[in-house]
Amino acid sequence: MKILRLACPKLVLLIVALVVGSFAGLARAERIKEFDRSGKLIVTEQSAAEQQPAYDIKNRPKEKVFEVPRPPFSEGIFPCSQCHKYMKPNPQRRTLTEYHTDIVLHHAEGQRWCTDCHNLIDRDKLRLVSGDTIDFTESYRLCGQCHGDKFRDWKVGVHGKRTGNWNGDKQYLLCVHCHNPHDPKFKALKPLPPPVRPGSASH
Ligand code: HEC
Ligand code: HEC
Ligand code: HEC
Ligand code: HEC
Repeated sequence: MKILRLACPKLVLLIVALVVGSFAGLARAERIKEFDRSGKLIVTEQSAAEQQPAYDIKNRPKEKVFEVPRPPFSEGIFPCSQCHKYMKPNPQRRTLTEYHTDIVLHHAEGQRWCTDCHNLIDRDKLRLVSGDTIDFTESYRLCGQCHGDKFRDWKVGVHGKRTGNWNGDKQYLLCVHCHNPHDPKFKALKPLPPPVRPGSASH
């Protein structure tokens, strides 16, 4: 008797918790009505997770474009097409001997080659794994494919550097302003002073 009296309130609490819990679950779940190919009505219950659209690399939401200073190219190297439009693209992994001999790939180099990041045909563009091409001013999207956590931090201003007025346009530095895309293990560069934009007189 004593044991039952003690156990009872706990039992009631447990039942209440279970009932409330399952109602909360039902609120998020949804009945999906569909017809099968023979015209029969099928009603299935889908959880909130099952209702999420499948991830589709070709059909992702558009990535926001961030305002960045000029990419940190070496003098005279861009546009790449000034040379490459006259050259036959060569996707072959090899030691470059005629040009770009200063570039030594030291960035997961076992798994990839220049043309995983640089578009083979139009050399003035970068290339994403989806096959999409992007401008050098959006290179953060290239890096973000593999460094998703850093990309997220960068977007909210936790990683890297962001300048600008609290209520005005923010300006971000590209990942490559601090990290060498070909050899990122080499210590991060000191961030450059933010460029002065015309017309942004201080007050
Ligand atoms: C991880 C992706 C990645 C790989 C792999 C890669 N690059 Fe790059 N490369 C970049 C990015 C991003 C930039 C742009 C840097 C900038 O905005 O100044 C760049 C810049 C360059 C530049 C301009 C450099 C300068 O001095 O301004 C050249 C030339 C170049 N890459 C050639 C190559 C060659 C050749 C290879 C292969 C040996 C290669 N890249 C491999 C991402 C990559
Ligand atoms: C002054 C001419 C010149 C410019 C400017 C130039 N390249 Fe090249 N590039 C070359 C030559 C020459 C080779 C072949 C090197 C070899 O085979 O040893 C080459 C090879 C490459 C390769 C290896 C793949 C291939 O097709 O041979 C990549 C990738 C590359 N360049 C990227 C770039 C990028 C990115 C830029 C601009 C940021 C750029 N280049 C600007 C002359 C140039
Ligand atoms: C295809 C995937 C991929 C892409 C794209 C990529 N990275 Fe990486 N990155 C890696 C991997 C894998 C490592 C660790 C292994 C290594 O460094 O060889 C790494 C290492 C790094 C590191 C850390 C080096 C250290 O200190 O250990 C930095 C910084 C970095 N990447 C920056 C960049 C930047 C900037 C870009 C864009 C220009 C970029 N990555 C694009 C795969 C990628
Ligand atoms: C203002 C300069 C700056 C910018 C912009 C920047 N980083 Fe970094 N990043 C750093 C510094 C500094 C470190 C720390 C280096 C260290 O701790 O050895 C770092 C570290 C990293 C590392 C290595 C982290 C680890 O765990 O070892 C990765 C990967 C990286 N950054 C990726 C990125 C990517 C991707 C972007 C762009 C979306 C970016 N960074 C933009 C300065 C920058």
